[in-house]
Amino acid sequence: MDNLIYQLGPLKVGKDLDVSLDGTLLPYTVRTVRDVAPVLLDTDNLSKLSPDTVLYRMYRDAVQAVHRPIFEKYRLRFDITVLQSLHLGREFNKTLGHFHPDFSPGTSYPEAYQVLHGEACFLLQKLKDGIVDEFRVIKASAGGAVLIPPNYGHVTANCGKDPLVMSNLVSTDFASMYSEYVRHKGAAYYMLADGRLIPNPSYGRLPKPVYAKDRLNVRRSLYLDFLENPDSFSYLAAPSPQIGVSGDLQGVAEGARQGRRKK
Ligand SMILES: [Fe+2]
Repeated sequence: MDNLIYQLGPLKVGKDLDVSLDGTLLPYTVRTVRDVAPVLLDTDNLSKLSPDTVLYRMYRDAVQAVHRPIFEKYRLRFDITVLQSLHLGREFNKTLGHFHPDFSPGTSYPEAYQVLHGEACFLLQKLKDGIVDEFRVIKASAGGAVLIPPNYGHVTANCGKDPLVMSNLVSTDFASMYSEYVRHKGAAYYMLADGRLIPNPSYGRLPKPVYAKDRLNVRRSLYLDFLENPDSFSYLAAPSPQIGVSGDLQGVAEGARQGRRKK
């Protein structure tokens, strides 16, 4: 693989968006312009992009065979997502957006992300009685990690000039729910390629966006930190409602303890 943009031990990501592990290219699925069109602000301004243009690749379960049993034991999956650097009309390239289902009544599964290369803008939104009552924007660059707390839907925009490579650690016990984002034609705010946010009229009245710094402390990488201390990530498979409320590690640690008790 030529032109590496990221490497961590046996994991390599090339400029062509290929990902290899131990020298073997990993399989992936894609989202194209056609797939993401239902959540775009501009659909008639994409004339340069064919509907088959790949916007991002998803590498699921990108773990070394020797480590698979420990991920399975903790019911967690490690994925890599690579987003092209391009614009979709007035917007940055972005993911489709989804919510996670509930682990327990009123508490959905959280997710941990780390940016490996490039810059990400995480757009989080929380619903209360079907209305968006909070919208958070969290920007992260290489090395930065972000928690998607329970009950937040999320979209990630590639808000940099390079391909965005990010990893995530998430429970294997659920499938993501896309319908709310498709029904509303995207998130509550669209992030334009000049960094501005404009409200999505489909939602009606919206709260002001909050620019947050909900960082997860990652020592080396999500992958290596998990291998070193998998118990510290068990809150992802068994969350409590307190996780991420304060946005600090104390909240995560407390949630982890409560989550374990609940199970
Ligand atoms: Fe997610």
